[in-house]
Amino acid sequence: MEKDIRLLQTDISQEDEETEVHLRPKHMGDYIGQKNVTDNLKVFIDAARLRKEPLDHVLFYGPPGLGKTTLAGIIANELGVNMRITSGPAIARAGDLAAILTNLSDHDVLFIDEIHRLNRSVEEILYSAMEDYVLDIIIGKGPSARSIRLDLAKFTLIGATTRAGSLSAPLRDRFGVINKFEMYSIDELKTIIKRSADILNIVIDEESTNEMARRSRGTPRIANRLLKRVRDFSQVKGSGRIDIAITDSTLLSLGIDREGLENLDREIIRIIIEQFNGGPVGIETIAAAVGEERITIEDVYEPYLIQAGFLHRTQKGRTVSGQAYKHLGIALPE
Ligand SMILES: Nc1ncnc2c1ncn2[C@@H]1O[C@H](COP(=O)(O)OP(=O)(O)O)[C@@H](O)[C@H]1O
Ligand SMILES: [Mg+2]
Repeated sequence: MEKDIRLLQTDISQEDEETEVHLRPKHMGDYIGQKNVTDNLKVFIDAARLRKEPLDHVLFYGPPGLGKTTLAGIIANELGVNMRITSGPAIARAGDLAAILTNLSDHDVLFIDEIHRLNRSVEEILYSAMEDYVLDIIIGKGPSARSIRLDLAKFTLIGATTRAGSLSAPLRDRFGVINKFEMYSIDELKTIIKRSADILNIVIDEESTNEMARRSRGTPRIANRLLKRVRDFSQVKGSGRIDIAITDSTLLSLGIDREGLENLDREIIRIIIEQFNGGPVGIETIAAAVGEERITIEDVYEPYLIQAGFLHRTQKGRTVSGQAYKHLGIALPE
């Protein structure tokens, strides 16, 4: 059995790198869903273009795989500018960020993924860069040190994060547009799966499309991964056409059950039920019990468990719903 954790990992695997390039929509018209986000952005993009000004700085937040990076690319594309991509952990020192900023041209997009992981000294450089398009740097050390100010191009920063709450207030306040990404509906995921199948030349029937959409945790990246895994199985074991039998057997062999939950999801709710009487129980305790990092559980697993109604977040900790008991076939306590 393949290790199902791969389907949920937040990092982009080598394989995804290759196919995501093809599957990633490049124009607003191909971007499915997130209407709340895109409707406003379209207006802001048009307005910025009309005024020949840079687009306001934009912050995207929400669980991994919902299309934040994709939409940043589309924005740059629609603005007709270059996009420079980096990430919070990749910018180790203030000088690294200064080098990136001084290389931007007017109206370019700088995309910083995992922006909540910028270190403090780097983040502070961003404040004046975002607000006034200037860079204050200190040259030299000790008594001879002096501060100089460099003008920067009028760029747009697009930041992405899985946890808006971890962003410092001064940084968050400098974004003119802040958008939350929502999980996708089954219909939206079906459209995404059909589009990807077309691009990858995969023949898939309606029932299988529907089943994959239902079991993708509201997440396009997972929908695309499932499609590719099922294709592998259908080519090796079946006719090459994707039908419901091959879809169902592939997903089950990957440990993905009929509600789209994988092993760790089931373990989380089982532990809360069996060891903590259904909760409430603190996130740290859950993390220790299942042997995962707290952040992974909070950012990757919980959002769907909550959205699908298996788990609730309360003041005192996490509790499971009756639906969780039912799903695991455990009798509800009195
Ligand atoms: N709205 C969308 N329409 C179509 N495909 C999408 C959409 N959002 C995401 N995808 C697909 O999911 C993949 C992952 O999206 P990505 O932008 O990398 O997510 P994030 O940056 O939020 O983690 C993309 O490569 C793309 O194929
Ligand atoms: Mg991303």
